[in-house]
Amino acid sequence: KDYGTPPSVSAETVTLTIDGVEVPVPAGTSVLRAASLAGITIPKLCASDNLEAFGSCRLCAVQIEGKKGLPAACTTPVEEGMEVHTRTERVATLRRNIMELYISDHPLDCLTCPANGDCELQDMAGAVGLREVRYGFAGANHLSAEKDESNPYFTFDPSKCIVCSRCVRACEEVQGTFALTIDGRGFESKVAAAGGEAFLDSECVSCGACVQTCPTATLMEKSVIEAGQPTHSAITTCAYCGVGCSFKAE
Ligand code: FES
Repeated sequence: KDYGTPPSVSAETVTLTIDGVEVPVPAGTSVLRAASLAGITIPKLCASDNLEAFGSCRLCAVQIEGKKGLPAACTTPVEEGMEVHTRTERVATLRRNIMELYISDHPLDCLTCPANGDCELQDMAGAVGLREVRYGFAGANHLSAEKDESNPYFTFDPSKCIVCSRCVRACEEVQGTFALTIDGRGFESKVAAAGGEAFLDSECVSCGACVQTCPTATLMEKSVIEAGQPTHSAITTCAYCGVGCSFKAE
């Protein structure tokens, strides 16, 4: 299970209320993680247990008594006596609107996509109850972008990228390499190998941290594209690397 943000190591305990449930957690825990620990699922895309909270997708928006706006649960630390609401109509509408914008810039080829059934974007669209997309498809630029298949183990398909930057952050925070970056702004923004090179010619060490954290089919193992989703997998770590290899078998 991914609780959304790294755990806090504080010895101090803070108690807050989430959807009426009292939740005691270590001080410094994010609202997203506190909710998850209490069994309350908040939709998320850019957050992950092994990455520092970034707050870019805004899908984890919640309502907090006494606070203006709808803050991101992943970047908001818990406070004593805090009252959080995760399922109000206002929050639900915002999340649906955000997902609508993501999907309006994403190819709708789920049935033939290699990540079908193992795609966080697909899961989140369902979780927020997205039923229609009112905007015309805006991702034409990305569709014409070329796939980078230079790496022997994985492909990079920019047409599927939602620019959550999980891959860029995993490269830096998990592996300590700076092989990836985000180029451009707005619709033009895209993940790229630093220096504008192909993945194979960049500083990429093929550790797989980016592939493991990608929530869509942007970074995909070639073995999955060729042979389909594995039926089971195991994660292991060794003394040399912090990634945690994912061994997958049919
Ligand atoms: Fe919190 Fe993306 S998961 S902003």
